[in-house]
Amino acid sequence: MKTAIYPGSFDPITLGHMDVIGRAAQCFDRVIVCVMVNCEKKHHMFTAQQRVDMVRRAVAGFPNVEASSWDGLLADFAVKEQANILVKGVRNGSDFDMEYQMALINKGICPTLETVLFPASADYIHFSSTMAREMIRYHQNLEKYVPASVVEELKGR
Ligand code: PNS
Repeated sequence: MKTAIYPGSFDPITLGHMDVIGRAAQCFDRVIVCVMVNCEKKHHMFTAQQRVDMVRRAVAGFPNVEASSWDGLLADFAVKEQANILVKGVRNGSDFDMEYQMALINKGICPTLETVLFPASADYIHFSSTMAREMIRYHQNLEKYVPASVVEELKGR
C-alpha cells in the first residue's frame, strides 16, 4: 500500500490544495492531508482544530484521503504512518527552491522518504492561503478560492 502525506498549514485549505489532493489521490492508495501545528507561520487565522475540521470536510468525497494533524517533525509523522512519500504542490521557481531544500532535509532525516512535487494546475497558479485570508478579511466572494464546505462554514460564523 502506497501511503502519501500532504503536509501544510492549510490556513485555510484552498482550491489549489484541493487540486493537488485530487491528483495525489489518483496516484497513491492512501493520502493523509496533515495540518502541521507548529510550523513557522505563527499568526494563523484559524486554530489547528479549525484547520483540521475544514480539511476533513473538504476531503470527505475522496474515499482514500484522510485529514490529520501533527505537532512535530514531519519525518516522524511519516514513520508513524508508514508513509514513504511526501506530496507538495509547486507554483513557481521560489516554491521549487523551497520544496527542493525541504525534500533534502526530510530525506536527510529519513532516507526512505521521497518527495513528489505536483506542478500547480494553470487555473490555480496564483492561489495561496495568504490570498484566501485576504479575501476572507475583506469579505470578498470566496467561492473561487476555497472549497464549498469552507465557504459554508465561514458564512455560518
Ligand atoms: O503550508 P506551508 O506553511 O507552506 O507548509 C510548510 C510545512 C508545514 C510543510 C513545513 O514547514 C514543515 O514540514 N514543517 C514541519 C517541521 C519539519 O518537519 N521540518 C523539517 C522539514 S523542512
